Amino acid sequence: MLCRLNGLAWLVSAAALGMSLPHSAHAAGDPALGEKKFYTCFGCHGIANYRNAYPDYSVPKLRHQHAAYIVAALHEYQAGERPHPTMHAQASSLSDQDIEDIAAYLQGPEPVKPSAAVAGAVPKEATACAACHGANGLGVDAPLTPKPPLLAGQHADYLEQALIAYRNGRRQNVIMDGMAKLLASDEDIKIVAAYFASQPSPLRTAKSEGQ
Ligand code: HEC
Ligand code: HEC
Repeated sequence: MLCRLNGLAWLVSAAALGMSLPHSAHAAGDPALGEKKFYTCFGCHGIANYRNAYPDYSVPKLRHQHAAYIVAALHEYQAGERPHPTMHAQASSLSDQDIEDIAAYLQGPEPVKPSAAVAGAVPKEATACAACHGANGLGVDAPLTPKPPLLAGQHADYLEQALIAYRNGRRQNVIMDGMAKLLASDEDIKIVAAYFASQPSPLRTAKSEGQ
């Protein structure tokens, strides 16, 4: 049944499960404190094209990623819903307020705005993704919770790694586990990852001088 759901139908069923209701606001993060608290993180996330070892893939870009997604991701590492020993240790050393501050720093004052511009043609494998990530990976103008991350401009090999982890159940997310299974082959995953990575985006490697 799942394979017949397009992104919008999945969105509607996600809403029926109560997942699209915005949660209460967190205590606002302080970006200046967040930049200081990100000090150890620059060692990996502040170096362009730094790579994870075993398996080998690029460390994700975080600058201008949505704050709500950063917060969710760090809680998922803490809880072990995302299995990565280093990130589990890093996230476990942070308080909820540290996480809010870091997320406020990484996002910057304004979240990236969705846009309709698409570079090239949207591959058919990526059409189901548009309802939440936008046709160009810059997101959609809707208050979705959990907040879908920016995919545009992210490292292609990191996106591939993430989709493989959802598909085989190592990374657990009630929405994306189903979506990743729509990508039947490794080739489908490569196509969508390369497509979203190629889209123009403000997503960047973090820089310690600020930007
Ligand atoms: C030793 C290198 C290293 C350090 C240090 C590190 N990270 Fe990471 N981080 C990674 C890798 C590798 C991933 C991708 C892991 C995966 O596949 O889930 C990642 C993923 C993330 C993600 C998820 C990004 C996404 O798109 O889902 C966030 C958020 C994050 N790190 C924040 C931090 C913060 C905050 C710190 C400092 C407290 C930190 N990281 C320190 C290597 C590192
Ligand atoms: C119903 C909304 C929805 C649809 C449709 C959807 N996604 Fe997602 N996506 C999300 C959410 C929410 C997350 C964050 C999940 C989490 O925290 O692990 C996410 C996360 C991701 C990530 C992880 C990014 C990172 O930085 O780690 C990738 C890659 C991704 N989606 C790709 C896709 C692709 C490719 C499709 C289409 C085949 C798709 N998504 C369809 C909502 C959606």
